Amino acid sequence: MSNFPTPEPVLVTCGLPYANGKCHIGHLRTYVPADIFVRALRKQGQNALFICGSDAHGTPIVVNAEDLGTTPKELVNKYHLHFQDIFRSMEVDFSFFGNTDSPANHARTNSIVEALIAKGYVYPRVIRLAYCAHDERFLPDRYVEGICPYCGKVARGDECDQGCGKHLEPGEIKNAKCRICGNPAKYREQEHFFFRLSSFGSFLSEYLKTLGGTSNAINYAREWAKELKDWCITRNLEWGVRFPGHDDLVVYVWVDAPIGYISFTEEWANKTRGDWRQYWLHDSRIIHFIGEDITYHHCIFWPAMLKGAGYTQPWAVVASGMLKIDDKKFSKSRGYVVWVDEDYLDHGFHPDLLRYYIANYTSHTKELNFSWKVFQDKVNNELVGALGNFLHRTQHFTNKNYGVIPDGDVDKEIFDKIASTINTVIAAFDEYEFKKATDAMMELAQYGNAYFQSNEPWRLVKKDKVACGRILKNCLQIGKALVLLFEPILPGNMEKAWKQLGSQGDVHTAQFEEALVTIPAGELVPPEILFTKIEDKKIEEMEMILDNRIKIAISKERKHAEDAKTEKTEITYEEFQKLDIRVGTVLTAENIKGSDKLLKLQVDIGEKRQIVAGIAKSHDPAGLVGRQVVVMANMKPAKLFGVESRGMVLAGDIEGAVLLLPEKKVKEGTRVR
Ligand code: 2FM
Ligand code: ZN
Repeated sequence: MSNFPTPEPVLVTCGLPYANGKCHIGHLRTYVPADIFVRALRKQGQNALFICGSDAHGTPIVVNAEDLGTTPKELVNKYHLHFQDIFRSMEVDFSFFGNTDSPANHARTNSIVEALIAKGYVYPRVIRLAYCAHDERFLPDRYVEGICPYCGKVARGDECDQGCGKHLEPGEIKNAKCRICGNPAKYREQEHFFFRLSSFGSFLSEYLKTLGGTSNAINYAREWAKELKDWCITRNLEWGVRFPGHDDLVVYVWVDAPIGYISFTEEWANKTRGDWRQYWLHDSRIIHFIGEDITYHHCIFWPAMLKGAGYTQPWAVVASGMLKIDDKKFSKSRGYVVWVDEDYLDHGFHPDLLRYYIANYTSHTKELNFSWKVFQDKVNNELVGALGNFLHRTQHFTNKNYGVIPDGDVDKEIFDKIASTINTVIAAFDEYEFKKATDAMMELAQYGNAYFQSNEPWRLVKKDKVACGRILKNCLQIGKALVLLFEPILPGNMEKAWKQLGSQGDVHTAQFEEALVTIPAGELVPPEILFTKIEDKKIEEMEMILDNRIKIAISKERKHAEDAKTEKTEITYEEFQKLDIRVGTVLTAENIKGSDKLLKLQVDIGEKRQIVAGIAKSHDPAGLVGRQVVVMANMKPAKLFGVESRGMVLAGDIEGAVLLLPEKKVKEGTRVR
């Protein structure tokens, strides 16, 4: 028995992208399956609303805007348009795409926070917060860098994003430094407001028993629900939704972001005369598609907030596994990234191809690896070789020999095969298993190819045109079923294929069960080829682009590491004391054979030392003898032009070298402090 259609209204959402950077394939890992799911629901006769929008607040956006010399608002507007554009191009078709900085979201957030305050779920507490004395400001979230108290890795802001992934409360980061000036943070006390998450333990334990979705979300959440800590929900920032009654505080971004799901539903309702309340105040099925890294927020924090404020809680949370590029962990900074515009759409690749890859590569909850080779392989062998080939050969052969779809019935065996495929596909969608669903579809295409091949219509047509017509009718019926089944995955191409089959109406609103209605006799137009093979040359070009990006990232990283090594950081007096700097007198000086820069000196620094100095261009050896110099005596010994050097003569780095001298002659070995 399938989960859909159901009388309760269905709302599907996608995690809101931060409007802070470009759309990459990691985003699509969640949005494409969600779009496929919604289309598949509609194909089962389920009316479903599909909501998403830009996440406009939070410190990363403020910090980034500061770095770029722009305002958070301008930055958000830019990327809001970018995401909208990309989603349109990738055929991710939201019913409404909002922005959490909208008046509707400010108002809904206020109303929810006020409801939580009124019910006693929000309370004030004085906490110690990172504060920068140099910049004279508190350091919320991304303004602090330091060490994760749980795993010891470098952590930034409210999340240990390079280590254990834990949410970090204000004041928790160890060795906190100000992100703006680099100075160690001080701590100051200030009153903040906390959400009483700890009082939702028994509610959450019960709720999580029935919450649907994928096991990678639910199983973790059940564990987390056993130990809950209250969450600080206010921040010292200008940009965000004001915390009611406190002009110096905004709510934490993880409060107003998910509330966006509600306010965008309201905005959609205002535009379409729909009713947002049926989704958020009554029985409904709210299904959140998210990346698995934000499970805690969606399975713990958000349902508790909704419960506390009296709203309907999610029915399912579907978490997608993470992404790899060429078997390496996805990383923008290390170059392992595929940008949707410049690396994909701008190269003329059809959105359907990547949609198929994302749906079919692996289970939704597992790690998806993207590589251009596998992409080429899947397109050439599966979309071109199996699906495209079957649709084209069937239509082309029928058109050439009959010009129309032949009259007559479709065999029971064919309808049985189609029906069982539809059942498998629906069952797979019910489990959020997009690979299983698309494998079953592709298996039907292979079945069609084998059926066509084994019946040899090219022979039969010469012997018995009526019998051959029956075979082709069966093939065309399989074709119709494939188009309906694949529409959620390949909406652009299946729209074309639907027209080529002479089918009436809109393929996007037609339902799966129409696949069991005999394709009517009638007009057949000459088919156009839907999918074409991707040449090796194109793949090599794409791999080169990725390789270059990785190389550039590596060299940047190296330079960064070098810079960090030679960075002139402040040192303590104790550290300075480790330097053994002494005054010495030059005893002998001579040129070094083969070098025009180096001189070999014997220097008395309380003991006799041989030192190689790079001062030959500015100093005559004879003129140095008897002069006092300043020497770094505890340099690690080194060999220069085969000559050992145990110390360094200090000089100003001006016009060659200007030797440092003591103010007056002092005893050899006098320490410089
Ligand atoms: O992690 C993120 O990218 C967030 N912008 C997701 C927010 S989803 C929601 F709760 F609003
Ligand atoms: Zn950590």
